Amino acid sequence: MIKISPSILSADFANLARDIGRIETADYVHVDVMDGLFVPNISIGIPVVKSIRPITSLPLDVHLMIDRPVRYVDQFCDAGADIVTCHVEADTEENIHEALRKIHAKGKKAGVVVKPKTPAGAVLPFIDEVEMILVMTVEPGFGGQKFMADMMPKVQTIRGYIDAMNPACELEVDGGVDPTTCKLCIASGANVLVAGSAVYKAEDIPARIAELRG
Ligand code: DX5
Ligand code: ZN
Repeated sequence: MIKISPSILSADFANLARDIGRIETADYVHVDVMDGLFVPNISIGIPVVKSIRPITSLPLDVHLMIDRPVRYVDQFCDAGADIVTCHVEADTEENIHEALRKIHAKGKKAGVVVKPKTPAGAVLPFIDEVEMILVMTVEPGFGGQKFMADMMPKVQTIRGYIDAMNPACELEVDGGVDPTTCKLCIASGANVLVAGSAVYKAEDIPARIAELRG
């Protein structure tokens, strides 16, 4: 079963409760956290996670596009994140391990993310200790960018690692996923698809979520 994690980066922040209510047929709520350092954009953070936690029963899938995430993972968990993913490029390997350890100590699921230029093998030091691996199919920082189909071999390689080493781990893709590109992601082995503009620009959001399941 393919899971859909709509990105609220494409929601109307003045009507966030309404827009989260519109995605209740999805599987997760994808929360894009940007710090203006790790990526050239600033979005939302801990207080917003805390505010939306009581208004949905869906798990909050929090994608940290921040420098040295180990500094903040406890606070995101306490605010109500269910899954917290950290970029492998955002700190030393040792500190990323520490961030994952802290997330687990809070009883939450932990994951690692790779940017487009980061090779598949960069997830290997973490593969035994994560519940999710996220492969970016755009450069992180902005919604509405063009899907990078050339990331599909990396998704396939990581699917191979997961099947061999940690079959319960979820494989998520993020960026430019729409009713056409979702098929490539699914065929390459992803089981969780993030979609921002494709969901929030749709006339019929539940129908679009169903369509993205492939
Ligand atoms: C990009 C974010 C994505 C983004 C996806 O930095 O991580 O989650 O919101 O948006 P779309 O689906 O519009 O590419
Ligand atoms: Zn994201």
